[in-house]
Amino acid sequence: MKRLLALTAAAFISLPLTPAVAQDGRPGAPGAGDPYFPDQGNGGYDTGHYDLTLDYDPNSKRLAGVARLTARATQSLSRFNLDLVSTLAVRSVTVNGTDASFRQRDTELVVTPRSRLSAGRGFSVVVRYDGRPTHVVDPDGSMDGWIRTSDGVYNANEPQGAMTWYPGNHHMTDKATYRFTVTVPDPVVAVANGDLVGKVSKRGRTTYVWDAREPMASYLATVSIGKFHLSDTKVGNFRVTTAVDPQLADGATGFAERHPPLLDYFASLFGPYPFSSTGGIIDQAPEVGYALETQTRPLYPRVPSESLLAHELAHQWFGNSVTPTLWRDIWLNEGFATYSEWLWLDQKGTRTVQEAFEAAYAPAADDEFWQTPTADPGGPANLFHDPVYDRGAMTLHVLRREVGDATFFAILRAWATDYKYGNADTAAFIALSERVSGRQLDALFDAWLFQPGKPSL
Ligand code: ARG
Ligand code: ZN
Repeated sequence: MKRLLALTAAAFISLPLTPAVAQDGRPGAPGAGDPYFPDQGNGGYDTGHYDLTLDYDPNSKRLAGVARLTARATQSLSRFNLDLVSTLAVRSVTVNGTDASFRQRDTELVVTPRSRLSAGRGFSVVVRYDGRPTHVVDPDGSMDGWIRTSDGVYNANEPQGAMTWYPGNHHMTDKATYRFTVTVPDPVVAVANGDLVGKVSKRGRTTYVWDAREPMASYLATVSIGKFHLSDTKVGNFRVTTAVDPQLADGATGFAERHPPLLDYFASLFGPYPFSSTGGIIDQAPEVGYALETQTRPLYPRVPSESLLAHELAHQWFGNSVTPTLWRDIWLNEGFATYSEWLWLDQKGTRTVQEAFEAAYAPAADDEFWQTPTADPGGPANLFHDPVYDRGAMTLHVLRREVGDATFFAILRAWATDYKYGNADTAAFIALSERVSGRQLDALFDAWLFQPGKPSL
């Protein structure tokens, strides 16, 4: 009530008092509270949509961007942060159409609007920025973010690369829809998530417009740029959009056609494919070395094998639609995607799931492998360690043997359905498994998820 009166008075007295109004309210937290990446994400607001207009020249390596965010304040806000590396220069920020003051420090863009943002109210932010983006090096030594290639960018952002090319609330608990409007010089192509909804060429430059209508975590966004062969076709029930580096075109024959059988198979197990289109980006980037399940359209540094394709497509359900709450829950992505590889190879007659399990279970009890518990690999340097993938997948297989096939697949379907487009953690998975199976599974999950050491069978 007091606050309301102050605001009303200030509105009449106008400009000189507005800074005082902005101080009424609290600053949003500079991080989302994830122990692995404390500065990632921000508190005090929830982003609903990103409209990113980007102009990139692979020759000069310059990016000019306008990021338009719509968000909702989750507290009364005197100021708030966005994540963006300060090697990109912010030129202006407006909030609700009015110039806001801002400063950049490390990976934070701190925005102070002219007037306080009330809790529960929607607001819009426009950030104009430019510079020469580049990647970051992750705690495990791998590259992520705006990874330059000879003709563009291999844009993979897990776990923290999003801040290298656009400002936002970059923790995975704040999902949003996206529109990308990207202009590049011909014959370079810009590929992003979602559906290609526009393509306009003018004076040697082409603007590609991509719409991602389902909620997406920042680490799954991509704007990949290169001299790709772009193909956008209907195959079976799917809109399949692929972009292939011409240097890899030979091995990529039939790439689009490989998607529907896999997606149909996974849909039969996990429930309907959660997105409006699919496909993939194959971009030669030998120094990167990893693929990423970028939403709707995974990114591959080479033509994917059947198991890699299955892995990244399974992530569309596990990781992209159902997303962890904290980075330490990463096995919910990688263990599930690895288990899905096993399922697909079994279905194809290459190798049974049981054989895959036995191979993964083979390391001796004193092997280093068994020292990392599945549910928390111990820090960001271990995010993508083997146990996250293989022990995660083994955990699911042990669960399956314990509860039986029908119940096990009912659990996976319920997981994909109940948490569709949301976030969930390991405790939620345990609770759901116990609810669906009607069993007490603490001992199994404790041995496989939380204790170091080789669980006995
Ligand atoms: N999620 C990716 C996959 O399973 C791996 C991402 C690795 N990222 C990294 N910065 N090393 O395929
Ligand atoms: Zn994965």
